Amino acid sequence: MPATGAAWIVRMPSKTFELVDSATGKKSSLPVRSGTIGPDVLDIATLNRDHDVFTFDPGFMATASTESRITYIDGDKGVLLYRGYPIEQLAEKSSFIEVAYLLLNGELPDKKQLAEFTANISRHTMINESLLRMFNGFHFNAHPMAMVSGIVASMSAFYHDSMDINNPRHREIFAHRIIAKLPTISAAAYKHSLGQPFVYPRNDLDYCANLLHMFYAVPCEPYDVDPLAAQALDLLLILHADHEQNASTSTVRLAGSTGANPYAAISAGVSALWGPAHGGANEAVLEMLESIGTADNIPKFLAKVKDKASNVRLMGFGHRVYKNFDPRAKIIREMCHKVLAKMGRGDNPLLELGERLEEIALKDDYFISRKLYPNVDFYSGIIYSALGIPRSMFTVMFAVARTAGWVAHWQEMISDPSYKIGRPRQLYTGPARREYTDIARR
Ligand code: CMC
Repeated sequence: MPATGAAWIVRMPSKTFELVDSATGKKSSLPVRSGTIGPDVLDIATLNRDHDVFTFDPGFMATASTESRITYIDGDKGVLLYRGYPIEQLAEKSSFIEVAYLLLNGELPDKKQLAEFTANISRHTMINESLLRMFNGFHFNAHPMAMVSGIVASMSAFYHDSMDINNPRHREIFAHRIIAKLPTISAAAYKHSLGQPFVYPRNDLDYCANLLHMFYAVPCEPYDVDPLAAQALDLLLILHADHEQNASTSTVRLAGSTGANPYAAISAGVSALWGPAHGGANEAVLEMLESIGTADNIPKFLAKVKDKASNVRLMGFGHRVYKNFDPRAKIIREMCHKVLAKMGRGDNPLLELGERLEEIALKDDYFISRKLYPNVDFYSGIIYSALGIPRSMFTVMFAVARTAGWVAHWQEMISDPSYKIGRPRQLYTGPARREYTDIARR
């Protein structure tokens, strides 16, 4: 049907929307779909076919890009559920490996399933020596996210022929490989930046202890992993493991929807995560706190944040979905105190400054009226620093955790027989058709 000007939508009690074309009077209806919980969605898939119009929603402010069974967020109430389980319960009782299993498989594992999954992940921790040599192609001060993204993309060269995305067993092996190798790749990036020898994984250690071992051990002396550090890191990874259709996960889905090699799709996710509006915020928060310096500078800094011309944002504050406390921020804030106290660094000036900044911002009308609250990254950098993780590696840690979510979403998409290539449309505002002018006449 051709475009006939304005149309309007009327909500019907029977969970359909009726669309009336104001020019022709023609009516049609759009189905409203309900999830298990959360707001209904209006299914507009037939809108263009029947009415020759598209919807316009830059930044996906009001668009559900897919149906998913993995993670649920209620941004108004500050609720986050992985496969139905509240993040608070998982943070208190679970482990990152168990959470990764849950995200991938939909259910918590029993003892045997967990042991098998853990063994499968441990078995895949080494990376090909040729991949390791690729690090030498990077300058020593390359940002680790650039190295991680590059190396993960290169994994597609090593596992291309053996990767049939339509084969469930291949997909499972891919999931184990990428989750297992991300810590190894991240540690190699760190060691390369230091000029230290690469430290091989130890499969007798658990996921986070092994990660810390690869970061901090050197071949010339023994290294004992601090169990508290491993436990704190494990908790951080649980909190960052998934967050429904965020920018990097949507990137992985979009890249993967073309049938691309999944390592290349994960690499696209790493790149999307890097930006300061997304995973790069943890690094930016520490830079911000250091630049503020002391609590007396907070009002001056907040004045700059409120001045739109300055382009300065209060990093670690605000979220597209949460219009209330980010539940992960609450957990991290508490953990910050525990970890720093146990490590004998209870009087951390950056933590004190962060808390003061949070307190002042939460009473400020600018932040109150815009419903801006601390997000997961407001405090995570402070814990990472306490664990001795360098600032440039913070977002890499986020990538290690989020890999579990990315893979779960990629799996969910590819195993759905009705999945389609992601292909948004646009509102074209460029020149209409015009004729080519010869260069002599321009
Ligand atoms: N500082 C100052 N003003 C802010 C901030 C902030 N951190 N966040 C949002 N605003 C203002 C923004 O200027 C706008 O004001 P106005 O209505 O007057 O134009 C209003 O709040 C709405 O902001 P928006 O940019 O339209 O909101 P968004 O949903 O597009 O952006 C965000 C979400 C996370 C990108 C943004 O809040 C932000 O830049 N925060 C700082 C970066 C950050 O901490 N990112 C980590 C997000 S959590 C981890 C993750 O998921 O990766």
